[in-house]
Amino acid sequence: MRTLPRVRFTFAQLRALEAVARNASFTRAAEELHLAQPTISIQVKELADCFGVPLLDVSGRRVRPTQAGAEVLATARRVFEEIADLDMRLAELQGVRRGRLRIAAVTTAEYFIPDLLGPFARHYPEIEVTLAVENRDRVVARLEANADDLYVMMMPPAGDHLVAVPFLENPLVPVADIDHPLAGKEGIPVARLARERFVLREAGSGTRMACEEFFREHGLNPEVKLELGSNEAVKHAVAAGLGIAILSAHTLGIQHEQAGLTVLDVRGFPIKRYWYVVRPAERVLTPVARAFLEFVRSIETSGEPQGDHTPRRREPRAPRAAAGGT
Ligand code: PGA
Repeated sequence: MRTLPRVRFTFAQLRALEAVARNASFTRAAEELHLAQPTISIQVKELADCFGVPLLDVSGRRVRPTQAGAEVLATARRVFEEIADLDMRLAELQGVRRGRLRIAAVTTAEYFIPDLLGPFARHYPEIEVTLAVENRDRVVARLEANADDLYVMMMPPAGDHLVAVPFLENPLVPVADIDHPLAGKEGIPVARLARERFVLREAGSGTRMACEEFFREHGLNPEVKLELGSNEAVKHAVAAGLGIAILSAHTLGIQHEQAGLTVLDVRGFPIKRYWYVVRPAERVLTPVARAFLEFVRSIETSGEPQGDHTPRRREPRAPRAAAGGT
């Protein structure tokens, strides 16, 4: 084994650099790591001082790694992977009873993921669960950086390098304010809907991507009135009469009419989509992640979601003894 040079940097500094590079932002990295932004800046600066070269280029509007930064990042990611492997080997030794489960889910999944995690966590009280909630683009970035055990999203990226298991229907529905002239009308043609103004999620959202695909497939180019960064903001804008939105039915509670919203009866809707649990094909799952996957698979994926759009589920079953095959 080669002798180690005297290491003067810390794991926390590497983690800060990785989070800033992946999010292309100090602010987002600070949010993700639950640290103050100046702390992150100092950690990255100290790391750069250690190597004697700048690691990030912050001259443009986006933060990008320099060539030296890319080298440090590549090594940092290898170190993180080794540590994740070690974590897994130690978890194997302890079985499924203890350990950690890191999940990253898209923002729209926040309406039902806690309902899944609740019974799972009750069944395995000693398992520590961390849930990161971001929009699709950022969840995909986490997936590419191999930052978590499992990822929940509606639009998994294509490719053989991923395994995506569908587990629940995710109908997308057109939503309008309750006093909208189209409210209560039956069989509205899509072309009529396309004459309305739309409130869309931000670029990078999977919901937005699915809406754009739908319009493209129907040769439509509707007017976009507003772009907003969360489902709740979109719902408020729709209720205020600012336009129509296409949203996952999971974002609407059974009480949505009380919030001033109604689902329009438009031909071709709901757009049928699914929720998937995604992971890199090469990643060996920890016993805990396997148990969670098993639990998620026990959810019925057929039929329309029930009234409150909460996934029907059974209590987690004891995980299969054999490793792999998930
Ligand atoms: P998002 O989620 O619109 O919150 O990004 C949907 C998805 O990407 O699956």
